[in-house]
Amino acid sequence: MAKKELDWSNIGFTYIPTDYRYVSNFKDGKWDDGEITTDTRVVLSEDSGVLHYAQECFEGLKAYETKDGKIVTFRPDLNASRMLDSAARLEMPQFPADRFLKAVEEVVAANKDWVPPYGSGATLYIRPVMFATGNVIGVKPADEYQFRIFCTPVGPYFKGGAKPIVVKISDFDRAAPHGTGNIKAGLNYAMSLHAIVKAHEEGFAENVYLDAESRTYIEETGGANIIFVTKEGGLVVPQSHTDSILPSITRRSIVQVARDILHLNVEERPVKLSEVENFVEMGLCGTAAVISPVGKINDHGKEICFASGMDEMGPVIKKLYDTLTGIQMGSVEGPEGWIHEICEA
Ligand code: PLP
Ligand code: COI
Repeated sequence: MAKKELDWSNIGFTYIPTDYRYVSNFKDGKWDDGEITTDTRVVLSEDSGVLHYAQECFEGLKAYETKDGKIVTFRPDLNASRMLDSAARLEMPQFPADRFLKAVEEVVAANKDWVPPYGSGATLYIRPVMFATGNVIGVKPADEYQFRIFCTPVGPYFKGGAKPIVVKISDFDRAAPHGTGNIKAGLNYAMSLHAIVKAHEEGFAENVYLDAESRTYIEETGGANIIFVTKEGGLVVPQSHTDSILPSITRRSIVQVARDILHLNVEERPVKLSEVENFVEMGLCGTAAVISPVGKINDHGKEICFASGMDEMGPVIKKLYDTLTGIQMGSVEGPEGWIHEICEA
């Protein structure tokens, strides 16, 4: 088999079906053996739990072709364990972490010709998803579920790639205090769709959500966590009083890179909207967003402009970006266990 013929450097963040996906079904209290299939379709009964009470959670990770011709994923064990947390919170069965990792390996190896070449700027996005297929009509957890993993080659999440974006402070909330903001449930994203459509109509790339309880603290955006850089070159990472920020694997990795590799001062603490104007750089971080620089925040007409400007990433975010992506693509040595090798390219 040979690498697929795609214009790798010019793909966006859209769904391009690949040849294979992994599917396992839960019935009579247990998961079946699971299999690789070519069938993209899911057939549901009209009373399936996912359709009524949104019993669904998902994950997002990427496969990379490294400089030395391997196909690898980045910290998939953390996606496996976050999915266990999401499933527990939504009263769904646990898909065992070892099976999650094996399924990622199988589906990526089966689709290896779809992993974008090293240096193309694209990657293979892997989307594990679990949802209630069993019947419900009263409000209760279903008895049957499907776990599925599919892949799609993707380019940058924001148009313009590494160009700074403009975001707005949203009047909508993404997640309730002590609700489901800290798990990766589809329902959180349903909450954000109206707000993102409005933000796009107004010319903004993303929404910055404040804490829903006091509307004072910065939480995160619709699809990424937030990082700031101080005048002194330190990293500041917003924390939630109300446990409503998704524990981003990218953000946790950036904190470790900043502390242990770049030896930056790192503060993880609640961050007030009112102090944001003191920072000199801002970035959105996530699997899809990688680290996307923010040039400006619009707070109800008042512009907060970062010193890094609208032309390119600021110097500290650039260093974090180069180190993180260098680890992911095999040109920088990362901490033990971060790179999970799957096969030869
Ligand atoms: N926050 C939200 C709301 C997200 O959807 C994502 C994407 O996964 C992230 C943060 C970043 O998380 P991760 O770095 O684990 O991809
Ligand atoms: C990811 O980064 O994996 C996400 O799930 C975010 C989503 C906005 C694509």
